[in-house]
Amino acid sequence: MAGSERTADPVPAHVAIIMDGNGRWAKKRHRPRLFGHKAGVDSVRAVVEAARESGVNHLTLYAFSTENWNRPGAEVKGLMALLKTYLQAELANMKKNNIRLGCFGQKERLPEDVRRVMDEVIGDTANCSGMRLNLALSYGSRTEIIGAVQEIAQKCASGQLDAESINDQVMSDHLYSAGQPDPDLMIRTGGEKRLSNFLLWQLSYAEIYFTETMWPDFRKEQFLEALYSFASRQRRYGRTGEQMTKAE
Ligand code: FPP
Repeated sequence: MAGSERTADPVPAHVAIIMDGNGRWAKKRHRPRLFGHKAGVDSVRAVVEAARESGVNHLTLYAFSTENWNRPGAEVKGLMALLKTYLQAELANMKKNNIRLGCFGQKERLPEDVRRVMDEVIGDTANCSGMRLNLALSYGSRTEIIGAVQEIAQKCASGQLDAESINDQVMSDHLYSAGQPDPDLMIRTGGEKRLSNFLLWQLSYAEIYFTETMWPDFRKEQFLEALYSFASRQRRYGRTGEQMTKAE
């Protein structure tokens, strides 16, 4: 039961989600994988709304990994088409709800038409000051970290940066997520218990919530369950429970 009488306090400032299980959800229904991805888009809509209503300020969704390019061509094409339709259909809604869209990943690898729509929505929502919605597309965390290290190394070589001054903040500033807080909560649907090359730097202190629920069945009620679970946990950042109680 959802238990809508429960309160989700504290609310995570940043929630990241690995949306897994579309294929298996479809297979169970003897339907093609794309049928699962289509239902998954409805979950995206529901979760974006639930996150915004709950006061989550940053929501990052893993929509397509660098490895996903290796899927059958028809599935990749279908996913790209779904993404484009979603962005076109949601622009007005995002503006109305003050949602700012961002993209984590190799945007240049996306088909030209998808990239164009993506850039348009990013530009048109750039002044929205409510929730930040980040879509991780053609995203891989190791590639992101390597890119950051290369940029930092170049700055050191050109004298713009001192090697000794490299710290957590410098690294964070060179990632796709620059300027945004690290996720407090990472949700993975679909029953697998892996990070799958997702936000490896940024998830250092995140609470992890795994659920057997397949992504197409993950809607508002299930999202709130994850927030309740987060609210019930004590985050210690390496300290003892007693230290945390005293600090409160
Ligand atoms: C993982 O399920 C899901 C994906 C690789 C794609 C996620 C895409 C969507 C939810 C729809 C498009 C996104 C947006 C933002 C509009 P899977 O196919 O790996 O499932 P399986 O593990 O059951 O095979």
